[in-house]
Amino acid sequence: MSTEFEVAAVRSRFPIFQKKIYLNSCSQGALSDAVESALQEHIRLWHRQGSPWDGWVDQYEAARTAFACFIGAAPEEVAVVTSASAGINSVASALDFGKRRKVVMGEFEFPTMGQIWLAQQRRGAEIQFVAAENNTISPAAYCHAIDDHTLIVPLTQLCFSNGFRSDISSIVKAAHERGALVMLDGYQDCGTRALDVKALDVDFYVTGALKYLLCPSGIAFLYVRPELISSLSPTVTGWFAQENPFAFDVKRFDPARTARRFETGSPPLPHVYAVPAALQLLGRIGFDKIAAHIGGLARALMEGARELKIRTKTPQASVGPLVVLQMKDAEAMVKKLAERNIVASNRMDGLRVSFHLYNTMADISSVLNVLQDNRGLAVSD
Ligand SMILES: Cc1ncc(COP(=O)(O)O)c(C=O)c1O
Repeated sequence: MSTEFEVAAVRSRFPIFQKKIYLNSCSQGALSDAVESALQEHIRLWHRQGSPWDGWVDQYEAARTAFACFIGAAPEEVAVVTSASAGINSVASALDFGKRRKVVMGEFEFPTMGQIWLAQQRRGAEIQFVAAENNTISPAAYCHAIDDHTLIVPLTQLCFSNGFRSDISSIVKAAHERGALVMLDGYQDCGTRALDVKALDVDFYVTGALKYLLCPSGIAFLYVRPELISSLSPTVTGWFAQENPFAFDVKRFDPARTARRFETGSPPLPHVYAVPAALQLLGRIGFDKIAAHIGGLARALMEGARELKIRTKTPQASVGPLVVLQMKDAEAMVKKLAERNIVASNRMDGLRVSFHLYNTMADISSVLNVLQDNRGLAVSD
């Protein structure tokens, strides 16, 4: 577990804490001095050199390599995209819904996941949603839905609206036994613990960098299992997806041999500067320490809510960066928190409080004080 000294030192690198108690990393990670100066480096070079494309392309590859290293993959297995949606669309466009048509996903997916696959109905996809019960979706419910017609199972690692953590290994096993692919959406967890996509055995892993990876919006990543890359040819494509983007051959479609074939146009250049800086900052603390620290905070908030008899939507076993409390009026509670300089967010009937390496037990006490003073806005247990 991180010592308070380490947390205080790291917190001092995020200027927002001078003014606010920031508990909204599930929406946007806080800006660190390291990421700020990395972004400024892009601007500095742009001012000085105008169009230093070679250096910019080097930095785009550095971001790919840093992310690949973090997830336990090779750089050739990672596409740098502009949003998680862009990565998912690329994969969807490359799949054929001829023999296998079913896409099986839980109700806890982020809306973009449902919307992208529903859009594939025109190309023959059949979407089946797995129902949730009591803020949980059991692996058995997935197993029941996955059959020999299932092409792919999109799976959120952690649900954006209640913090439920999916049982990845059981679902991956069930999908692979039936010959189906698995696309893991790690967005609500990525950056809060160590990650090994090979050990998870997923076929695709998609995430963006703006939440717990502490970067700005506009950059995301897609990992593709290497054995699949050459068999998939996205129709959502562009010049940066070609084997040699700088061949400038309008009459030739020649997708890259690597996961770069899942990219499209010019990379998000300012943003690529942020990624190695953020991963270095997180890596220096250590992902196991970060996960333990976050776990301690999440358990403390759940315990505090229990003492106040406020209902928690996040299942006890799902301890992670996001704790969601059930409210009669979640928006009003977010406003009450804001009045005391606390930044949190709401989705449907849930108050979302999210933790990262920079949060402390004192932050939780501040939230609990506001909850206590406004108990009437919360659902009681
Ligand atoms: C779990 C999850 N997946 C996907 C997305 C959407 O990502 P993007 O806007 O990069 O497409 C979000 C955004 O909040 C999310 O929380």
